[in-house]
Amino acid sequence: MIAALAVTILATQALASQDDNQHNTRPYQPTAFHIGPTSPEAPSNFNAYRVGSSLRLTPSSPVLTLDYGAEVAGFPYFTVQSLTGPTQVELKYSEPYDGLQLPYSDGPFLFVNGLMNSFRTETFNLTAPGRVQSSLAQGGQRWQTIKLLTNSSIILTDVGFVPTVDIEPTVHLPGALSTSSQDLNKVWDLGARSVQAACVEPYSQPSTWDITIEGALIRGQYPGTSAKGLSFGNYSLTFFTKIVQGGTGWRVAASANAGYGAYFVLTTSGPHLANTNSTLLPSNTLIAGFGFSIIDQAILASAPPQYYKVPFEISQDRWYRITTTISAAGYNISVNGTQIAFVDLQSFEDYINAGWGNPQATDGTWGFGPFQDQAAYFRDVVVTASDGKAQLYSDPLTNEHVLAEYRVATNSDQVCLDGAKRDRLIWIGDFAHTARMLAATTGYEYIRSMIEYEFRWQLTSGPGAGLVPMQEAMGDAFQFRSEYYPSQYGENDYEIFFLLIVGDYFALTEDTPFMREHWTGLKILVETLIERFLDPASGLLADPNGVLWFTAQGAQNATAPTALFVVALQELIPIARALREYASVKTWSDLVDSISTKINQKLWSDDLGTYIFALDDPGNYSLLSAAFPIRAGIANTSQATRSIQSLSNLFLNIGYKDSTRIGNSNTTQLSPNVQGFLLESLFVAHTNLNVSADVITPVIKNLLEVYWPHMVNQNEYSTGCPWEYMYPDGSPGIGIFTSLCHPWGGAPTYILSNYFLGIRRESKDLGSYEWVLDPVWEVVKSLGVKQASGRMPLPEGGWIEARWSLQPRGRTQCEAFVHGARNVHVNAKGPCRMVRNWS
Ligand SMILES: *[C@@H]1O[C@H](CO)[C@@H](O)[C@H](O)[C@H]1NC(C)=O
Ligand SMILES: *[C@@H]1O[C@H](CO)[C@@H](O)[C@H](O)[C@H]1NC(C)=O
Ligand SMILES: *[C@@H]1O[C@H](CO)[C@@H](O)[C@H](O)[C@H]1NC(C)=O
Ligand SMILES: *[C@@H]1O[C@H](CO)[C@@H](O)[C@H](O)[C@H]1NC(C)=O
Ligand SMILES: *[C@@H]1O[C@H](CO)[C@@H](O)[C@H](O)[C@H]1NC(C)=O
Ligand SMILES: *[C@@H]1O[C@H](CO)[C@@H](O)[C@H](O)[C@H]1NC(C)=O
Ligand SMILES: *[C@@H]1O[C@H](CO)[C@@H](O)[C@H](O)[C@H]1NC(C)=O
Ligand SMILES: *[C@@H]1O[C@H](CO)[C@@H](O)[C@H](O)[C@H]1NC(C)=O
Ligand SMILES: *[C@@H]1O[C@H](CO)[C@@H](O)[C@H](O)[C@H]1NC(C)=O
Ligand SMILES: *[C@@H]1O[C@H](CO)[C@@H](O)[C@H](O)[C@H]1NC(C)=O
Ligand SMILES: *[C@@H]1O[C@H](CO)[C@@H](O)[C@H](O)[C@H]1NC(C)=O
Repeated sequence: MIAALAVTILATQALASQDDNQHNTRPYQPTAFHIGPTSPEAPSNFNAYRVGSSLRLTPSSPVLTLDYGAEVAGFPYFTVQSLTGPTQVELKYSEPYDGLQLPYSDGPFLFVNGLMNSFRTETFNLTAPGRVQSSLAQGGQRWQTIKLLTNSSIILTDVGFVPTVDIEPTVHLPGALSTSSQDLNKVWDLGARSVQAACVEPYSQPSTWDITIEGALIRGQYPGTSAKGLSFGNYSLTFFTKIVQGGTGWRVAASANAGYGAYFVLTTSGPHLANTNSTLLPSNTLIAGFGFSIIDQAILASAPPQYYKVPFEISQDRWYRITTTISAAGYNISVNGTQIAFVDLQSFEDYINAGWGNPQATDGTWGFGPFQDQAAYFRDVVVTASDGKAQLYSDPLTNEHVLAEYRVATNSDQVCLDGAKRDRLIWIGDFAHTARMLAATTGYEYIRSMIEYEFRWQLTSGPGAGLVPMQEAMGDAFQFRSEYYPSQYGENDYEIFFLLIVGDYFALTEDTPFMREHWTGLKILVETLIERFLDPASGLLADPNGVLWFTAQGAQNATAPTALFVVALQELIPIARALREYASVKTWSDLVDSISTKINQKLWSDDLGTYIFALDDPGNYSLLSAAFPIRAGIANTSQATRSIQSLSNLFLNIGYKDSTRIGNSNTTQLSPNVQGFLLESLFVAHTNLNVSADVITPVIKNLLEVYWPHMVNQNEYSTGCPWEYMYPDGSPGIGIFTSLCHPWGGAPTYILSNYFLGIRRESKDLGSYEWVLDPVWEVVKSLGVKQASGRMPLPEGGWIEARWSLQPRGRTQCEAFVHGARNVHVNAKGPCRMVRNWS
């Protein structure tokens, strides 16, 4: 198979290294295609794609546009049946359709490496027929183009992606939901697809670096940076590099947070690919940038690059020795002993420490990563103190151990990422919704592995002792975990979300042995949070170090994170009780009482009729300052009712903005993550606090009938997954860069299973739990839903199946049935009953 290939070197080498890593070998193939001078303006006029058909591109019809129907992920491949001469083709990948029209498509993703191609535009130089496979994965897309760049013609067959994740049709999953409302069914499906696209099996995401005896072969991508140099500064970095295509790239003074810092690209005199942007990447030039890269991307700005012509020829396939010396004045760069640039630090002043980097542009680690479509070898890295005397570091880059050091090791853990295409980080707060979605769709495996992962990585010493990682990268190494503190611990309440995840998992499973294994870590985390954040003066959560609170837009002594902590403690008490850890039961119960009392004393505003945003912001309130006190039961019936009524002020066109602190504009972000927490609290208000259905249903209708359907009913944006954010016109909420496959936006999936289908866990006496079948009838009726059926996976295997229908004349049929598990009882309430077999 490999011998038959005579395509580019890069593509050939890719095959050899990736074949071992595939779990699912069934490729993702397009469902429809279009060939023409350009892509159609809108996603219409496509033909059905049939495997094996020949797709011919010519100079007058050079653009093949492909639709995969929904989000897919993997290594792009295609087969060249014939070509008339040397041919270059440009491939683009995009979640939204309109990405295909842009030079960088919906990318690039220059924030972290993410073990994928950081670029969404990729070019191949083809000389002979055969199969071509990219060496770098694409994490998530629905659309693709293949554009002929040269004056030749080419016939392609068999285009697709070799999977890096296994996305099954929804009907094959253990969990399911089908109702009489098509929109609700599609909204449920969003979450089911996203957890499959964003959760990855161990070793399914290969390293983006290839270690060879010649050194590390690194294709164009966001640089991987060494964990060993994070505390270094004022050094001299020397390495050898051999360019395979276009140019080479490296970093110095890079921060622990995403590598923000100086970035250099050195280009060859040629040959260059036909679509190389010669303004951005002139030939034979050193390009010096600062920030994330040499270009801006969406919300992440970088300094305008500076250009230094190299006074001698830089050729492909020859080794060069590059030295970058950092001093207080700037970066002094030489190639093979000849100085080619002195880059003045002053010129980057505005971009230094812009919230991301180190305070000094002289400090931080080094890293390697060429720019788009470039590729180069790197070897023999040596770092010395600037005076040239002490050698601080050296590595030949010929051993696989460097992959973890440079944060690009293949993923050894079974983890869920925040999004399929980006950031591809293990953001633990995002997982709060994801865990519940998993329980309702694919099952419990990833919830367990994520909990294990977090406790294994919990810091045990140093200034962050007790905390769990909040923003880990798949490619990071365990032994360097403390190096990433504090830079990657910038949202305190993500720690609380993790407690909630543990509590939710126990509520679903009552898996006492697993909790026993992690009890020590759990207890230390709770104690750490109390010690760090429970303010003795206010009795609320505040961080004297000023680190941010995600659920309160950074405010201290705020309602949302404080009430969230109460919700988490309430869910942890049953764990302590099950483990007979009575001292913790007592301590945590007392804390729940005292914090709840403080919230009602200090944060409830009778004038506003809701909880205030924070102690020092008594005029504002937010979705979460209402939602979490309700979920915690801190609010009584009238407080919950009034809080929910006050939300109408936050409604903006199609959904609810986070808080009254945010103005109304066409770019106000409407967060499905935040509205997901709101949605569950509305049901809780009704089921636990006796808030009338009349109060909650208008809000529920806005969420489920107006807001979420925008993710399913716009073909140009729809991926079959929930989104990261939405604008008030219903388009993606950070523009082209928005992740359109982001599990954190998929809460309706579990909420529909739990409250519409009606299968959920409820606490019994003394904190044990039971399965109930208890649809929230008044809500389902007000949404006009006449019937529902579905499955809820069981932690012991098998599932609970339920179905109900509202008959004419007010009769209701409602039944539950346990499949494939013994001794599972469902407490069927109201008109529902449990049956042995379907009647
Ligand atoms: C493209 O190739 C054709 C046939 O080889 C030739 O006639 C034509 O002049 C070429 N066009 C350009 C723009 O080079
Ligand atoms: C590097 O030098 C600058 C002064 O030029 C100093 O502020 C900084 O602390 C030094 N960095 C290290 C890591 O020593
Ligand atoms: C494309 O491949 C051909 C044949 O190997 C080679 O001559 C040409 O230089 C390559 N072009 C680029 C841009 O690498
Ligand atoms: C080429 O790069 C320059 C500089 O970044 C940019 O202004 C221009 O839009 C780019 N052109 C294309 C076609 O991307
Ligand atoms: C650059 O220097 C290295 C030795 O330091 C040498 O091996 C290499 O050939 C030189 N490259 C060029 C293009 O002169
Ligand atoms: C930069 O390095 C060169 C040697 O490569 C040296 O001659 C020059 O003085 C250095 N410049 C500065 C400003 O340090
Ligand atoms: C929280 O509120 C208390 C009481 O008002 C105050 O003393 C403390 O400084 C506040 N904490 C922060 C971090 O603002
Ligand atoms: C709400 O918060 C905004 C932004 O912090 C502030 O400007 C405004 O004064 C606050 N509104 C009230 C009514 O306190
Ligand atoms: C609910 O809380 C409010 C505000 O603290 C209080 O005024 C009201 O009496 C409470 N209602 C009940 C039924 O306890
Ligand atoms: C918002 O409105 C401004 C001014 O009318 C317009 O330029 C911009 O494109 C709009 N943005 C969005 C996301 O609709
Ligand atoms: C719930 O509220 C209704 C009125 O809306 C009232 O009749 C009923 O007694 C309340 N139930 C409880 C348990 O408080």
